[in-house]
Amino acid sequence: MIDLSKLAEPGSIEETLLEKIDLTRLPRHVAVIMDGNGRWAKARSLHRVEGHRAGIASVREIVETGARLELGVMTLYAFSVENWKRPRYEVATLMMLLKEYLRKELATLMENDIRFVPIGRIDGLDPSVQRELRYAEQQTAQNTGLLFQIALNYGGRAEIVDTVNRIMSLLRDREMSDAAIDEDFFSAHLYTANVHDPDLLIRTSGELRVSNFLLWQIAYAEIHVTKVLWPDFRRKHLFEAIIDFQARERRYGGVDESPDAEMFIEADSEEGRRRDQ
Ligand code: FPP
Repeated sequence: MIDLSKLAEPGSIEETLLEKIDLTRLPRHVAVIMDGNGRWAKARSLHRVEGHRAGIASVREIVETGARLELGVMTLYAFSVENWKRPRYEVATLMMLLKEYLRKELATLMENDIRFVPIGRIDGLDPSVQRELRYAEQQTAQNTGLLFQIALNYGGRAEIVDTVNRIMSLLRDREMSDAAIDEDFFSAHLYTANVHDPDLLIRTSGELRVSNFLLWQIAYAEIHVTKVLWPDFRRKHLFEAIIDFQARERRYGGVDESPDAEMFIEADSEEGRRRDQ
């Protein structure tokens, strides 16, 4: 049962937004491209890494909100396979911040019953980062609330290539190398095997790109882009994204067969007949 008192203070803007959300139609999986840390820092004449440091407060608030809203899954894009091209100092600071986050936040993850799972080419990260990730994953493995996936050294194309290789080696081992595979089988071998595809993809800082994030999984996701920079992204912005999501009509390539939609069609054709007369 969702405890609304933990999500909004009485009389707050969050409360007004929360009232607009249909709690029975929440997205099951929310994926987030956290962007704009550099611009946030630049606007304050700070070094880029200060933007990443400030972004951690947003991570904390958004993940905790997701857990309290009882969303099934949240996936945050923290470091892409392309991000190695950034200056060494920035990469090192991001890794240091990640380790610091894991150490400091483990207790909060446990309190909120959150299961933490990193996705991506984790074995390409520094062994000290891998150790912290493994520890947090093991400690939270029995939690049954929100699944919090963090994408690290992640690329959507890399994931698809890794999946193809994984499937090929599996079929070779089973001596089934000429077997045909289908979409379900392929999905079941992605990093996100057994996890519902995102219903909602949020991108901060206004850019209209998917940046190689969850390419297979976002096939039918609704996309919400906000100009808010990641370090400024707060609970109310997540509520706004969910309200936007709930206003969309999701048809998965089919047609809307709800009674309301039929009424529209009838009204349209009625009007059409009148016009034709
Ligand atoms: C994009 O902003 C953001 C990133 C590449 C890193 C996101 C990382 C964090 C929020 C902190 C670490 C995360 C955890 C979970 C501890 P950008 O630098 O590309 O911004 P810009 O486009 O304005 O330059």
